[in-house]
Amino acid sequence: MRETLRETPDMTGYAFPGTYPTTRMRRNRADDWTRRLVAETRLGRDDLVWPIFVTDGVGPREPVSSMPGVHRLSVDLLVETAGEAVRLGIPAVALFPCVSPDLRTDDAREAVNPDNLLCRAIAAVKAAHPGLGVITDVALDPYTSHGHDGLMHAGRILNDETNAVLVEQALVQVRAGADIVAPSDMMDGRIGAIRRALDEAGFSDAKIVSYAAKYASAWYGPFRDAVGSSSALKGDKRTYQMDPANSDEALREVALDLAEGADMVMVKPGLPYLDIVQRVKQAFGVPTLAYQVSGEYAMIKAAAGNDWIDYEAALLESLTALKRAGADAVLTYGAADAARLLQR
Ligand code: PBG
Repeated sequence: MRETLRETPDMTGYAFPGTYPTTRMRRNRADDWTRRLVAETRLGRDDLVWPIFVTDGVGPREPVSSMPGVHRLSVDLLVETAGEAVRLGIPAVALFPCVSPDLRTDDAREAVNPDNLLCRAIAAVKAAHPGLGVITDVALDPYTSHGHDGLMHAGRILNDETNAVLVEQALVQVRAGADIVAPSDMMDGRIGAIRRALDEAGFSDAKIVSYAAKYASAWYGPFRDAVGSSSALKGDKRTYQMDPANSDEALREVALDLAEGADMVMVKPGLPYLDIVQRVKQAFGVPTLAYQVSGEYAMIKAAAGNDWIDYEAALLESLTALKRAGADAVLTYGAADAARLLQR
């Protein structure tokens, strides 16, 4: 749109049909009905994915202190909450396990246990709510004693050795009923390896959403509290997650993951990376998700908790901004709140 306008610039650089006072931009903003009529971006319940934390045991609902309003749920409560997602018209949930510390090992073997917490959670949700999309995280950090997303040797994160485990992890998740596996680990070549393994095992319909442009970000702090990996994590994730300074590199990551068979791609975090969302969507035109991550949610909640900003307005505005930048859908811990607000 902008490009065509620029071909016939006036003094502002844009070919407006007129200038003030003939043109008054406020006319279209004057009434609620005109604002609705000319809105370029529309946020709807269909654009939401709800990330949910799951924990072991029956009955617990543990608050995550750095994420007000968010809880770790036992599988029985998760099933109830998934029912809430269905009632609210949210298309999919993304499940993240908080694994008990005694199951975290150097080889992350619990990740490939077909009866692990996440697999039991997937099966329970799909049994109760077959029409709800279930997205699962493929990465080893909930299962490693050192909190990294891959296997570690002599202080280095091993790529190809990690891929071999990620493939098995994706397989147990899909066998348990996951509709979409979402590798968030940032190893090279893992999308292709997972795609081949799924196809060979007869799961050619299982989808992959790749965390293609995932940055080494300070905004993941509250998430690591929620899944209990922050105290375990040694060092940072900068040898595999992207440098926040880079943008061309995001396009290469996305191109590789698409070539390897990703069905959808993700940009993460969300609001600090709107430019990446826009470039990815424009360059590839593929289904593009943005992840409004834990730290973004925590910032909104903290400010709202101090009565410094309005939670509901800030949530909807930030989600609309991600859509405006080009996201087809947004993962947000405020998904249920947003869906309720959008119902009104
Ligand atoms: C781990 C993973 C992380 C998130 C999703 N999957 C954290 C990390 O990479 O350290 C972050 C999500 C959030 O902050 O909301 N593979």
